[in-house]
Amino acid sequence: MTFSRNPFCSSLLLASLFLSLTVILKNWHFGLQENKPFGDAGGPDGLTPARDRLLQQLKERQQELELLDITFDNKQGFMDPSFSTNDSAVYINGKLSSDNPLTAKTDIGCEELSGIKAVDFLGSGYTKTVLKAALPQGLFVALKSINHQGTDMRLCMEDFQDSQGCNELVSFKLRKEIVLLQRLQHTNIVELKGQCQDSALVGGITAVLEQGMPLQMIQLLQSPWEERFRVCLGLVQLLQYLSHSPLGSVALLDFQPRQFVMVSGELKLTDLDDASIQEPACQEDSDCLLQFPLRNFTLRCSFSRTCEGLNEMRNLYNAYRYFFTYLLPHQAPPLLKPLIHQIMNSTGELKQSINETLVAFEEVLHMYKSGLHLENLPPSITRDYAVLKGMRSVANMEYRCWPSYKQQGCVLSVHSAREAALICSSHPQCTSFSLSSEKTWTGRLLASFRSGFSHLVPDVNSAVYMRRVKASGAVL
Ligand SMILES: Nc1ncnc2c1ncn2[C@@H]1O[C@H](COP(=O)(O)OP(=O)(O)O)[C@@H](O)[C@H]1O
Ligand SMILES: *[C@@H]1O[C@H](CO)[C@@H](O)[C@H](O)[C@H]1NC(C)=O
Ligand SMILES: *[C@@H]1O[C@H](CO)[C@@H](O)[C@H](O)[C@H]1NC(C)=O
Ligand SMILES: *[C@@H]1O[C@H](CO)[C@@H](O)[C@H](O)[C@H]1NC(C)=O
Ligand SMILES: *[C@@H]1O[C@H](CO)[C@@H](O)[C@H](O)[C@H]1NC(C)=O
Ligand SMILES: [Mg+2]
Repeated sequence: MTFSRNPFCSSLLLASLFLSLTVILKNWHFGLQENKPFGDAGGPDGLTPARDRLLQQLKERQQELELLDITFDNKQGFMDPSFSTNDSAVYINGKLSSDNPLTAKTDIGCEELSGIKAVDFLGSGYTKTVLKAALPQGLFVALKSINHQGTDMRLCMEDFQDSQGCNELVSFKLRKEIVLLQRLQHTNIVELKGQCQDSALVGGITAVLEQGMPLQMIQLLQSPWEERFRVCLGLVQLLQYLSHSPLGSVALLDFQPRQFVMVSGELKLTDLDDASIQEPACQEDSDCLLQFPLRNFTLRCSFSRTCEGLNEMRNLYNAYRYFFTYLLPHQAPPLLKPLIHQIMNSTGELKQSINETLVAFEEVLHMYKSGLHLENLPPSITRDYAVLKGMRSVANMEYRCWPSYKQQGCVLSVHSAREAALICSSHPQCTSFSLSSEKTWTGRLLASFRSGFSHLVPDVNSAVYMRRVKASGAVL
């Protein structure tokens, strides 16, 4: 649990968030045709220029939503003729038909939400606020709603002084995100578990999401290479999916670590409102410029006069500059380093497609899992250790190492007893290690290294290896 340490502060924070979540205009969903007084005095036709601009923006956002549906239906129509174009129109007005195959899983609706309790604050950005909530069955979910104190809302209010109109405008971003979450389903995208729009019970628009933990880059930097590689691999799998998604090639325009969360060690995209499903139009190659602070690229203007592949390349370079450079090379297993450097170079230069990048990542994973990168370990190394099978040493004489899976003590992932023996022999403090049946996501074993032990207990799933030299020497 991650409750704030100061109960007073956190309850104040929660109370104010509740207010913004629940005390929302009952009749928030105002119609465009409705003739309400906006801002200050009206113009000749009763409309101020500001209101015109607001209406224009609302119309554009509505059209963007409709385009998502048209695109999806067109693409889906090719692959799956049984998918009816009529199903999708339902989304635009908020309500969902439960017989739609895409939404069968999104079963938490307004009714369920009205009785739900928020227990913690998870995060917020320019547009949205996310709270942790407990379902009656004791399951936790993340509730995403409009951030009424956020930059988007503030800038809109400065422009238009119209809280209902601004609420509607900002809500479009979350509505777009909900449509995208319904269309794009992948292990590395948070799961949409339900939604509520246009309800007096709950107020405002709410997306119910699988709950994760905000991505902490600093924490990730301190974690074992295997876990950092998992994050990068997940990202590459996500980008490969986005390049060939049911909506076409999707670009993440606001690509930053804070748009992702972690769910049990797996990276998941949560912020989708800045996704683009269109590749830019062009006349010549120089129109297909991809600009980054330290590097520019120019892509080909295709025969169909679009910058084909630009979305994929934009995502890939962002993955390189925000994730790979920090997470991948550092502490990589020595024999995998050439492959890793090749990946770094080809993504940093955009020399390879996402498909080729994924193949390279899978090759690294394969080598790492199979222990191929350890082929030239000295075979005799385990002879320096006496094995006690069916035993486990209990909480004692631990020493710390880095980057350990456990804060207290030295727990590292190994391919075999041989690799563990090599590690123990390279740590001056190490006199023994134990292997249990506990495994990491790649299937490698977790080894616990110790500087000594006072007693052993039986455990069929464990084995203790004692270093002979030290066990009999003066060190103990
Ligand atoms: N499913 C989730 N579980 C936990 N935290 C989340 C979840 N979704 C979002 N967050 C946190 O909330 C923050 C704001 O959400 P986000 O969708 O990025 O809003 P914005 O569009 O305002 O940036 C994120 O940066 C993230 O830290
Ligand atoms: C969509 O609905 C309309 C009327 O509701 C119907 O005439 C039309 O055949 C439907 N189209 C599809 C593709 O199901
Ligand atoms: C990228 O292109 C822009 C516009 O053409 C230019 O101003 C900038 O200096 C270029 N940056 C780099 C790093 O080449
Ligand atoms: C890739 O390798 C080439 C040749 O060694 C080098 O000049 C270039 O700087 C490298 N690029 C990156 C992004 O690492
Ligand atoms: C990349 O992989 C996807 C999915 O496997 C496939 O549909 C697509 O044709 C591939 N693209 C290229 C250029 O090979
Ligand atoms: Mg965000």
